[in-house]
Amino acid sequence: MSGKVTSNDHASYTTTGIKRSRNDSVGNRVTVILGAQWGDEGKGKVVDLLATESDIICRCQGGNNAGHTVVVDGKEYDFHLLPSGIINTKAVSFIGNGVVIHLPGLFEEAEKNEKKGLKDWDKRLIISDRAHIVFDFHQSVDGLQEVQRQAQEGKNIGTTKKGIGPTYSTKAARTGLRICDLLADFSDFSSRFKNLAYQYQSMFPSLVIDVEGQLKKLKDYTERIRPMVRDGIYFMYEALHGGQKKILVEGANAALLDIDFGTYPFVTSSNCTVGGVCTGLGIPPQNIGEVYGVVKAYTTRVGIGAFPTEQKNDIGDLLQSRGHEVGVTTGRKRRCGWLDLVILRYANMINGFTALALTKLDILDVLSEIKIGTAYKLNGKRIPYFPANQEILNRVEVEYETFPGWKTDTTRARKWDDLPLKAQNYIRFIETQVGVPIKWVGVGKSRESMIQLF
Ligand code: GDP
Ligand code: IMO
Ligand code: MG
Repeated sequence: MSGKVTSNDHASYTTTGIKRSRNDSVGNRVTVILGAQWGDEGKGKVVDLLATESDIICRCQGGNNAGHTVVVDGKEYDFHLLPSGIINTKAVSFIGNGVVIHLPGLFEEAEKNEKKGLKDWDKRLIISDRAHIVFDFHQSVDGLQEVQRQAQEGKNIGTTKKGIGPTYSTKAARTGLRICDLLADFSDFSSRFKNLAYQYQSMFPSLVIDVEGQLKKLKDYTERIRPMVRDGIYFMYEALHGGQKKILVEGANAALLDIDFGTYPFVTSSNCTVGGVCTGLGIPPQNIGEVYGVVKAYTTRVGIGAFPTEQKNDIGDLLQSRGHEVGVTTGRKRRCGWLDLVILRYANMINGFTALALTKLDILDVLSEIKIGTAYKLNGKRIPYFPANQEILNRVEVEYETFPGWKTDTTRARKWDDLPLKAQNYIRFIETQVGVPIKWVGVGKSRESMIQLF
């Protein structure tokens, strides 16, 4: 037995002397950053802010459907699969088992950022051997399924066509292939790859797969990634227990795009809420520390699906153009609307946010009147929950609270007192209504334009 038991010691011991206290052996706690709306809330910027003092930055779910922007010294980087913290040369970046990896996409992204000054990223990147691989045919099938949906239902999902849905489908169907399979016996890998390719060809007769060509390319990637691959679970275990470390988890996508909790079926295919951190990294729940929700001061959505506070009018157009609301991954215009407290409260029920980062407040600077959606009504009655069914969600009537605009440039504000009183009231209203403290307020793209409140 390691420590002496005293009457003050609340821990209990097994007969073999293993201490039963949970807290004694918890190890480091990870800080989590999650999107609280439909994505593009500014997670990349918040990650970048905290990454400067982190030792490890992890991605736990999603793939290169994510598009996270980071602006440092006037240079804009966008990250899709690489954790945004990769620009911190003192930290290690980790891609966990819950992420799906398109290898050509990973290298293309790295090369694009190398041209902007990113260096030695491959020496700082660790990849879990349990992560599933996105093949080119998964991406083709993503496109074909969208065409099918359009033909059958008259609408598609508006996916990023990065192969996310098909890859998580093969994972669930147990026919997927993982990084560990690629690095083990290549002939075993090849035969499983062929089976999967033929299966897909039989499901989609128009799908052309150059099986041998694909295998050759995959073989080339094998040696390039081998030095980066580790047993992801053991890597995280050591990170949590091998001495004090600051570990950051960069959520991708967002709560309302979560496969279980989002606006299904107009969602992505992974868990983008806090549970995805445990399953996507292989860590116990007691190692979850701070959970920061990132919230845009208004709401945007890319792709199809219900959006109760959407403004298909001049207000929406203004938010779109002032906010440069264009998808980082697909270049599509983002749909825009007022902030919706119903979805924020819902995201908080699932994630248990310990604080929020409110971004893009500056985009509202020119408005003379600002609205916030505070409740939903169905058939004239307020509902206390967020409806699961899309048709119902499309029918809700939103109740709004109206605020006077501050009509002042906030982009130079660096502390709370620099913000106009009307902006402060807007922020405090959100905080009170969601019941979670706001820790940061964003008033511009750069690192400096993030006001820290406590
Ligand atoms: P993510 O996917 O959540 O990381 O967000 P994106 O990078 O897709 O989209 C957020 C966009 O807003 C990026 O272009 C950011 O540079 C920008 N941004 C983030 N915070 C702020 C802010 O406080 N003010 C302004 N004006 N832009 C911001
Ligand atoms: P970040 O991390 C915004 C949306 C797509 C589509 C749906 C399904 O930058 O916030 P998928 O390709 O995942 O199967 O597409 O989900 N979507 C996002 N929208 N930001 C994202 O990520 C998104 N990731 C997926 O537009 O509607
Ligand atoms: Mg984005």
